Amino acid sequence: MPIIETKRLLLREFTSEDVEALADILSDPETMRFYPSPLDQIGVVDWIERNRLRYKKDGHGLWAMVLKLTDDLIGDCGLTAQVIDGNREIEIGYHVRRDLWGQGLAPEAALACRDYGFRQLSVDRLISLIRPENLPSRRVAEKMGMSLWKQVMWRNLPHNVFAVFRPNPKMY
Ligand SMILES: CC(C)(COP(=O)(O)OP(=O)(O)OC[C@H]1O[C@@H](n2cnc3c(N)ncnc32)[C@H](O)[C@@H]1OP(=O)(O)O)[C@@H](O)C(=O)NCCC(=O)NCCS
Repeated sequence: MPIIETKRLLLREFTSEDVEALADILSDPETMRFYPSPLDQIGVVDWIERNRLRYKKDGHGLWAMVLKLTDDLIGDCGLTAQVIDGNREIEIGYHVRRDLWGQGLAPEAALACRDYGFRQLSVDRLISLIRPENLPSRRVAEKMGMSLWKQVMWRNLPHNVFAVFRPNPKMY
């Protein structure tokens, strides 16, 4: 059952059967260059498990990004709760398989998550935590209407916090 559908993509919950396809994304050193390290197979299994726990606890998490044309799992995108400066924030996160970069797939999914977040959750803002060097991710944040809000240390590394604020209560 998809949670979100866009022109080219479906977002649905991860299952334990997604390990191999997700490893093509999260075990790739280039894709994970702004993370401490690429994930090994146990790391990918844990990633899926953590998100399945988030679905149960919060009703959302990172979802599997599926290309409608081929039915392939090609990334993830979704909403996760993070604590920043002592406040609970909802982050929009995204990763796309490297051979598909540059086609606007992450912004397509992220925009749909932004609208879903403002519709379904009572939050005034949605954020993305982005390493300052990660220009592709910054571009995705800008394309979904975010701008730089503040800078924080997060998991011992400097991060820019991009944010989009609920524009008008009647809009959602
Ligand atoms: C960030 C990411 C999800 C963007 O996905 P995408 O579907 O390629 O998004 P877009 O097509 O809108 O491209 C965004 C930017 O990526 C860069 N980009 C595009 N094609 C690229 C390519 N082939 N190689 C490297 N960078 C590329 C460009 O800066 C582009 O911005 P522009 O449209 O202004 O030129 C993808 O690069 C990725 O998975 N990166 C690794 C994971 C990651 O860093 N996630 C975010 C953590 S905060």
